Amino acid sequence: MKLCVIEGDGIGQEVVPAAVCVLRQLFPELDIVPANAGWRTFEATGEALPEETVRIAKEAQAVLFGACSSPSYPIEGYSSPIVKLRRLMETYANLRPTRYLPVPTARAGVDLVVVRENTEDLYIGDEQTDDAGDTGTATKRITRSATELIAHKAFQLAQSEGRRKVTIVHKGNVLPQTDGLFRRVAYEVSQEYDDIETDELLVDTAAYWLVKEPTRFDIILTPNLYGDILSDMAAAWGGGLGLAPALNLSEKVAIAEPVHGSAPDIAGQRVANPTAAILSAAMLVRHHWKRPEIADRIDRAVYEALSEGEHTADILAGSGVSTEDFTDIICEKLG
Ligand code: NAI
Ligand code: MG
Repeated sequence: MKLCVIEGDGIGQEVVPAAVCVLRQLFPELDIVPANAGWRTFEATGEALPEETVRIAKEAQAVLFGACSSPSYPIEGYSSPIVKLRRLMETYANLRPTRYLPVPTARAGVDLVVVRENTEDLYIGDEQTDDAGDTGTATKRITRSATELIAHKAFQLAQSEGRRKVTIVHKGNVLPQTDGLFRRVAYEVSQEYDDIETDELLVDTAAYWLVKEPTRFDIILTPNLYGDILSDMAAAWGGGLGLAPALNLSEKVAIAEPVHGSAPDIAGQRVANPTAAILSAAMLVRHHWKRPEIADRIDRAVYEALSEGEHTADILAGSGVSTEDFTDIICEKLG
């Protein structure tokens, strides 16, 4: 088994080694191949996602990715490496679960998954600015084929996890040609899954209910941009971004990647919470390597550590152990 490991920028360099430590303990034979991507790589080489990294990732078919710092203004030759890698690896689905974890910041009873389309929408990165620099235009692309793929994934996940409902989230009232297509195709696919209830919400209303009553959600099926935003919102109910895992996947490849970014505000301080990265690795073990019993062990070790009051400083400001100490506690439990 091979794993391409891309730490990236900021706390990616702190939380990814923690997840690698857990995986090494459970899979001593694992062939780990490091690769570069991100802002630092761009500054050093002029490329944010070098071809060599893509080659290693494709060969391994499994990637553990930290986070990359992407500036919020145009830089010649730079685009978000993770968005590009997801597209090049054809990981059409991004699964972002939020489950209650035993920390004071989490909400009891929350157990939902944002199933985010991962290859199109505004994230195709087709943007232009006019000559005067006063008008920016971006293309939003939604296709039947990509929507069918992600919708089947959502309903199949509902079946395999014993979930009852899929909520299609869109803005079809304003964007009937794009989000309206997503909605229509998602409903068509739902016809093949009689055992799962289907409903829908406009994305603004979904945001409202996600804040007010998160326990009403089960699976949220949504295009790329809304999935990005709603999964950060949902993460707050799971205890915070430091605890929120994600997995990009297709039938052949997977990229495990926490929901959070490179967190420059805390990078280098050894306080980053490695839980999101560790739980993302567990998702890779479960869905890609098909070893649910080992994924369960990782999930259990994290749950136990947190319920015993062990945590990093993001959970309770001003108190908590370091990234390395929390990782050691998890590894000891997996002993
Ligand atoms: P962020 O997720 O990096 O941080 C948001 C807040 O949550 C910060 O206060 C941070 O300290 C905290 N936080 C995040 N993860 C944490 C962890 N593991 N432990 C403790 N606290 C944690 O989002 P932000 O600040 O909006 O973005 C920072 C950079 O990350 C940007 O350059 C952005 O482009 C990039 N980014 C990259 C992503 C990726 O590569 N997949 C995803 C999201 C953002
Ligand atoms: Mg995001």
